[in-house]
Amino acid sequence: MYYADIHCHMLYGVDDGARDRREMLQMLEKSYNDNVRVLCVTPHFAPGNFGNNAAKAREVFEELREYAALKHPDMRLFMGNELFYRKGAAAWIDDGHCKTLGNSFCVLVDFREDASREMISEGLHRILTAGYRPVLAHLERYRDIFRGGLGLIRSFKVDGVLLQADSGSFLGDFGFSVRRRANKLVRAGLLDVISSDAHRVDSRHTNLKECCSLITKKYGEEVASKLFWSNAIRILGINSEE
Ligand SMILES: [Fe+2]
Repeated sequence: MYYADIHCHMLYGVDDGARDRREMLQMLEKSYNDNVRVLCVTPHFAPGNFGNNAAKAREVFEELREYAALKHPDMRLFMGNELFYRKGAAAWIDDGHCKTLGNSFCVLVDFREDASREMISEGLHRILTAGYRPVLAHLERYRDIFRGGLGLIRSFKVDGVLLQADSGSFLGDFGFSVRRRANKLVRAGLLDVISSDAHRVDSRHTNLKECCSLITKKYGEEVASKLFWSNAIRILGINSEE
C-alpha cells in the first residue's frame, strides 16, 4: 500500500524541522522507503516564531523537487504550510505568504496545545469565513476540544473542517491520553487523515507504514486506505491515477 503524507517538516532552515540539506534528503529517502508516493511538505507559518519564511521555503522546496524528480520520479511533491493560528491569520493566506495545501483551498491549521475550545472554534470559523477549508492539525493533542465528549468536534465536521491526526499519536509518542483520543476519533468515524508530522530523521520521523499496519489490524483495510491515502488525495485535489 502507498501513502499520501500531507503534513511534514522536511524543508531545511525554515522552521524546527530538518536542520540542513543532508537531513532533508535523508528524510525524503525515509519517506520514500516508507512507501510515501504523494508528499506535501508543510513548514510552520508562524511569523512570531520563525519570521516570514515564505520565500526561503519556496526556494528550498525547489531544491527538494529537483532532487526527487531525478531520484524518485514516481513520487509527487506538493507544498503547503502549517498555519499557526492567531487573529488576522487568514490575511496571510490571502496575500500568498501562507500556502494552502497543494493547489487546493484547504489550509493546515494548528493552535497552541493548551488552546481553549473557544479559541480553536473561533479560529476555525474565521478561516472558513475567509473562504478556506481548515484541516485541523493533530487535533488529538488539543485536550480542551474533547471536554464533554465529541460534540464540539462533530460540529466542526458539520461546518466543513477536516481533521488530521499524527501517526506518532497512535504509536504512543505523545503519551497514553493522546493515543486514547486519537483512537476515539477513528472509532467514531470522525478522522479524515493520518500524517507523519515528521520533523527530523532521528526522532519524530516518518513512520506511516508502522502506524498503518496498526490501524489496519484494529480497524480494517478500508478505514486504513481512507486515512492514509484517498482522503489525503482528495484534500490535495489530485487524481490518484495521475
Ligand atoms: Fe506540524
